[in-house]
Amino acid sequence: MNVLLIGSGGREHAMAWKIAQSTLLDALYVAPGNPGSIRHGRPANVDISNHKALRAFLLEKKITMVVVGPEQPLVEGLHDRIADDPLLKGVTVIGPRQQGAQLEGSKEFAKEFMFRHNIPTAAHRSFGKDELSAAVEHLQKVAAPYVIKADGLASGKGVVITSDIKEAERALKGMLSGKSFGAAGEKVVIEQFLKGTEVSAFLITDGDAFKMLPAARDYKRVGNGDTGPNTGGMGAVSPVPMADKDFMQKVHDRVAAPTVRGLREDGIPYQGFIFMGLMNVNGEPYVIEYNVRLGDPETQVVLPRLRSDLLDLFEGIASGTLSERHVDVDDRTAVSVVLANDGYPGDHVSGKPITGIDLVKDAYVFQAGTAMKGERLVTAGGRVLSVTAFGKDVEHAITKAYLATNVINYEGKMCRSDIGHDLVRKPTVKAPAAQQA
Ligand code: AMP
Ligand code: GLY
Repeated sequence: MNVLLIGSGGREHAMAWKIAQSTLLDALYVAPGNPGSIRHGRPANVDISNHKALRAFLLEKKITMVVVGPEQPLVEGLHDRIADDPLLKGVTVIGPRQQGAQLEGSKEFAKEFMFRHNIPTAAHRSFGKDELSAAVEHLQKVAAPYVIKADGLASGKGVVITSDIKEAERALKGMLSGKSFGAAGEKVVIEQFLKGTEVSAFLITDGDAFKMLPAARDYKRVGNGDTGPNTGGMGAVSPVPMADKDFMQKVHDRVAAPTVRGLREDGIPYQGFIFMGLMNVNGEPYVIEYNVRLGDPETQVVLPRLRSDLLDLFEGIASGTLSERHVDVDDRTAVSVVLANDGYPGDHVSGKPITGIDLVKDAYVFQAGTAMKGERLVTAGGRVLSVTAFGKDVEHAITKAYLATNVINYEGKMCRSDIGHDLVRKPTVKAPAAQQA
């Protein structure tokens, strides 16, 4: 099988690494890829937004499978363009059509979908750009903290959570006026605040059957102890103790199954991944958001734990026989630490040489914001690398991942030093014996 993988981040490096291990693979092309991912295949010099060029490339390289890493091309209709092209009949796309991609592309669409299919989620109301006063009035009726979300794609930055009603009003004004997030914010969703712990759960589906993939915990804030601004993710751990067997059974029955069934009932064909961003509220799963792709950096712990051949699962999607395929999972713990660039998620410098990757032992280094400058690997983005290690438990995996990060160097290197620490089982401390007088 000849495969084209789309994307350029750490997630896509992990996907390229995993696809390259498949016995079903003949050739892997990555567009645009990065210096890490292209080592597992060949760079595809093609502009995927130019359909004629993409068609010519797919035909010339005899590609029968296009795997889409990020959401943007899906929301923009890449799948539809390929599927509706009579010359590309034999090409399967892993990732939904534009209609299904609305699960991530529009918060309001996702909310209405969940209500229609009785999938647990926070109560909400939507407001359009002429409804600022109704939105402000609504704020006065609900309890703090206020959760305000831009409807469209805003790279994970379109959410404001605050207990200060004035700040909430300012956020509403900024969004509805189009100032904060452009068109993505001209509709907003105000929703009930959910208190609990977050879990990222994943499924893969051919639109009929689905298989759960390992769940993960993502560390979204830039600073230790979950402080500072939100980022794309500073680290990940899988499995997650809070997502135990009971909880995951509820996720399967109350979220995953009704989601796939709901898509079918609504006549929305769906092939690919669904990322269920969940809040565990006293053992009950609530959906915070759907994504129509895998997570980054969750993929860097989920795929290393997947023992099954990823292309075999994709082939199950292509032929509608996913129900016959197996998902086999390594039960060790994987921890991934993101090495970022000083200043991230704000401004940062790039172009600094990266050293030490070759010295890493017993861990995987997935590249994200990297580039080649002549013969040298240099930094080229906010999140530079993610380093994944396995351990028999979370403590061992943390130690190994951090040991590996220590041998990598570049100017501006920055990471959280507490990835996974909240998941380490605390020793039960015996109460000190009462002192004898
Ligand atoms: P989202 O972009 O919808 O994933 O939201 C970003 C982050 O905001 C989530 O990862 C949560 O930490 C937080 N969040 C979103 N919605 C809620 C909610 N209803 N209650 C509590 N926290 C939330
Ligand atoms: N790590 C969260 C995401 O990929 O959206």
